[in-house]
Amino acid sequence: MTAPASDPDRVVIFDTTLRDGEQSPGASMTLGEKLRIARGLAELGVDVIEAGFPIASNGDFDAVREIARTVTGPRIAGLARANRRDIDRCAEAVAPAEAARIHTFISTSPLHMKHKLRLEPEQVIDAIADSVAYARNLCDDVEWSAEDGSRSDPDFLCRCIETAIRAGASTINIPDTVGYGVPEEFGALIRSLIERVPNSDRAVFSVHCHNDLGLAVANSLAGVAAGARQIECTVNGLGERAGNAALEEIVMTLKTRHDRMPYTTGVTTEQIMKMSRLVAAITGFVVQPNKAIVGANAFAHESGIHQDGMLKHAGTYEIMTPESIGLTRSTLVMGKHSGRNAFRAKLDELGYGLGDNAFEAAFQRFKDLADRKKEMFDEDIIALVDDQIGHAEDRIRFVALDIVAGSRVDRQRASLVLAIDGTEHETTATGNGPVDATFNAINALFPHTATLQLYQVHAVTAGTDAQAEVTVRLEEDGRTVNGQGADIDTLVASCRAYIHALNKLLVKRTRTAPDALSA
Ligand code: KIV
Ligand code: ZN
Repeated sequence: MTAPASDPDRVVIFDTTLRDGEQSPGASMTLGEKLRIARGLAELGVDVIEAGFPIASNGDFDAVREIARTVTGPRIAGLARANRRDIDRCAEAVAPAEAARIHTFISTSPLHMKHKLRLEPEQVIDAIADSVAYARNLCDDVEWSAEDGSRSDPDFLCRCIETAIRAGASTINIPDTVGYGVPEEFGALIRSLIERVPNSDRAVFSVHCHNDLGLAVANSLAGVAAGARQIECTVNGLGERAGNAALEEIVMTLKTRHDRMPYTTGVTTEQIMKMSRLVAAITGFVVQPNKAIVGANAFAHESGIHQDGMLKHAGTYEIMTPESIGLTRSTLVMGKHSGRNAFRAKLDELGYGLGDNAFEAAFQRFKDLADRKKEMFDEDIIALVDDQIGHAEDRIRFVALDIVAGSRVDRQRASLVLAIDGTEHETTATGNGPVDATFNAINALFPHTATLQLYQVHAVTAGTDAQAEVTVRLEEDGRTVNGQGADIDTLVASCRAYIHALNKLLVKRTRTAPDALSA
């Protein structure tokens, strides 16, 4: 259900992780990864999934169509600019969905109309009437967005909205595209639009806030207090530049401060942590430890005073329970003696449902890791499984790596075996340090023109035998991808991360290059 007609306090959660979120540099995902996220979002209970921008590339089109075809529950939306070519492509992509939406937009601020669109305001009004009516003929659910709405002239914005509703839009979205608004001002804008537009009662008003000043969530909630009943947001706040409003922060604020904000959502909050981990693992955008709700420290209590308070009463320093976001205090302690049943139960506890082959491969890696590591934490298993799943389409696979390093060698040396399209190849390369030598060996076995943009290592848990989780960002012909790898050996993790990124680039090479897009 996407229009809260029956319950005036029900807020529609419109997730745009797969569209605005994917527009973050390096966050691009393969079709399989997008499908996993879409299925997770359906389990999470969002109302609308914006699955992509179908005109952007064949890959985007295929992903939106496949999600529309296979993911049930939420309404599936696609984005389109205000022209018939975009709208046709979008309509075709969302058509298989049990409930579909075309989301079309155009800029309405003086700055954007003059410099970006080079259109007069009257031409923009005509484009709105034409694009919305055209979309409405192809799909019975049309959303219209005023790009840069928060910096638009309110009188002109009222005319635009009235036109869009008259042409058939049932959702009106007001973006704070550049994250410029402040809560009081943005809320007042939403309230005045709802009051002043004559036919506003025929549409659900929506907000879409970017986080350039760190106010995306506050602005979104101010919009709801002013009458908006749809929030556009992303998991972990992923999105263009500083990102979008974070879904988990919005949902948990509405739940925790229901006394002040008496609105509800359809989100099963116990799925939040699992979804956050999935998005972080797929995109390589690691969640900062002190991030609200889903950061590693969000429920950690370090200081003696806090620990003492917590022991006496959890409410002293916790305003919500870890369980409410799906952080379970583990009941199953895993180690090298754990068998298949215990491992399966642990995966269930962590929210992973693996098929038989994937389960067997994960179990073998778990046994291998348990042999080498004193203590196995949930984070170890999460890193291991995240590292393994979703590699079915990989053309390049890691086989083995030996390193000669240390202060007594002139140049570090890496001997590497990779399987490329099923055939094993081996080489030895040197470098300035073991990571450099490893990456040189990959380049020798699989020559390419991609350049390294980011190399980042973080320890999954405490202790010197912690697994390393490595992120590698590669760029080739304007395309950026992130790869991840996890292993107890930092160099093996680095090698896996580089190969993961290369595999993603290979998938991207087969897609058409995106046009210069403006969403
Ligand atoms: O930020 C923005 O204005 C957008 C629109 C396309 C909704 O993403
Ligand atoms: Zn946006």
